[in-house]
Amino acid sequence: MSNNILIAIAWPYANSEIHVGNITGSHLPGDIVARYHRLKGDRVLVVSGTDSHGTPVTLRADADGRSVEEVYQYFHNQFLELFQKTGISYDLFTSTHTENHFKVAQCMFLALQKNGYLYTETRPQWFSASANRFLPDRYVEGTCYICGFEGARSDQCDQCGSVLEPEKLINPRSKVDGSTPELRDTKHFYLDLSKLEPDVEKFLRQRQNYWRETVSGQSLGQIESEGLRPRPITRDLDWGIPVPVEGWEGKCIYVWFEAVIGYLSATIEWAQITGQPDAWRDWWTDLSAKTYYFIGKDNIFFHAAMWPAQLQGAGKEFVQIFSEEEGVPLNLPYNVPANQFMNLEGQKISGSRNWAVWGLDFLTRYDPDALRYYLTINMPELRDSDWDWDEFIARNNNELVATWGNLANRVLSFAYKHWDGRVPDPGELRPADKDIISTVDNGFQTVGEHLEAVHLRAALNEALRLASEGNKYLDTFKPWFEIKTDKEAASKTIYTALRVIDSLKLLFAPFIPFSSERLSTYLGYHEPIFGEQYVEQQQDRLGAHNTLRYRPPQPGGRWEPSNLQPGQRLAEPAALFKKLEPALAEEERRRLGK
Ligand code: MF3
Ligand code: ZN
Repeated sequence: MSNNILIAIAWPYANSEIHVGNITGSHLPGDIVARYHRLKGDRVLVVSGTDSHGTPVTLRADADGRSVEEVYQYFHNQFLELFQKTGISYDLFTSTHTENHFKVAQCMFLALQKNGYLYTETRPQWFSASANRFLPDRYVEGTCYICGFEGARSDQCDQCGSVLEPEKLINPRSKVDGSTPELRDTKHFYLDLSKLEPDVEKFLRQRQNYWRETVSGQSLGQIESEGLRPRPITRDLDWGIPVPVEGWEGKCIYVWFEAVIGYLSATIEWAQITGQPDAWRDWWTDLSAKTYYFIGKDNIFFHAAMWPAQLQGAGKEFVQIFSEEEGVPLNLPYNVPANQFMNLEGQKISGSRNWAVWGLDFLTRYDPDALRYYLTINMPELRDSDWDWDEFIARNNNELVATWGNLANRVLSFAYKHWDGRVPDPGELRPADKDIISTVDNGFQTVGEHLEAVHLRAALNEALRLASEGNKYLDTFKPWFEIKTDKEAASKTIYTALRVIDSLKLLFAPFIPFSSERLSTYLGYHEPIFGEQYVEQQQDRLGAHNTLRYRPPQPGGRWEPSNLQPGQRLAEPAALFKKLEPALAEEERRRLGK
């Protein structure tokens, strides 16, 4: 049965390049799960985009002395390049700075307003007398009133992870000029989260039994301890989405309120540009659809509490206002498999101190599958993990090269050489041949179950274990000796081994798609396993924005065991992976922090 699966991945802020922690935190796990479901034959849609508004972006523009448009376009285009090069196969990677997103976000705002979940209130906010302006969110830093961290931003503390109420910050200072801001009254719209708290709690309890404890625990814990409190959802800023209410010119919708709406608006944009304007409903109003949100732990509150609150509060009125059709409610998240953080050589990754491994820079020296492999086997699923250069090289050499690459290589080159570039005819298979084939074929079940449960490390470990079984089989039968005395026996061994690697190529494909595609051509297949990524420009009244797209393959790979036919013509093989010099680790460590 084919299911509708929405893979929703956190929208990166347009204020910095993407590093390995971001990739392993959200983009890569989302892509792996998406590729698996595509192979299974599900109807998959992967969406995200650049989070182009808010103070992270305006502050960066201030610091660089460039316009916000320039800054957001620059990083947006870097993201597209990175995702294309690392194979993060977005069906649509767009931006929040689009006419469509403005409209969807404003309709969501109006639906919440109509249902009585918004109210306005005049309250004190940080104001800079020297700059003569309000200082929302990241414009003010100071001491966290929860954990005492001195470098907290007024809206969120990076030390304890708490979402903060800005005016409670201790020792505030302006990011513009270091001066001490004062509190001044300003009027804003508030989302009454306390009214929605019972709905959010019910939603969380329904999902508690299959969500990661790190996610449900944090969200329910917050409800139990302090409860959900109303939050302001507008700001005194001019870069962003205008408040859709008369008399509110000069204020914008809060970046977090609108960015999460991006999942919905990107699905709608995808439906429009593919010429099937109603198709977005297959993931949002069809109750059997499943939506997965791939995010880092600092985003849990916004995806597990605030976004479900927005969706429930908007209710069926969103569809009514947006499409002037009969209202239906929107689907709530099925799972939010948030990851913890990845550190680098034992220290927290920090972009500003350049203590980071940047995605695009990394790819100038190494292959994308080496990155994807290490980031999956080391993914911070339940606790923080660490990028360690020695370990990266060791795992590349011992696992990717020595276990999987070597198996594939030995078999392919031997077959190509001794059977005239064709798959040998094995005749009747021996019991041991059938055994290894069924062991590996069973991986479609076991690896699949881990992937369904979003246990990606376990899934990859299982695929690797099966590759080791393949090596053991080969070492038992030793076709390089068999061929000297009994070519018929060698044909059975090599046919069996080719089938094993043909199956393994699919078991590995969600994780390391580039090498699986290559292996598939060596095995003589002409149809690619996955589709193609490409960049396409869209135009609207706000201007032009590039998008990353995905063209599905015809007919594409299938999540099922190999059915390799004797006689199939092979292509000349080459090594799948590169061995890395251990001394590179030292060189890479020298590069850091400069
Ligand atoms: N830009 C935010 C961050 O980098 C994530 C936004 S996820 C979204 O932390 F869904 F809200 F867009
Ligand atoms: Zn704190």
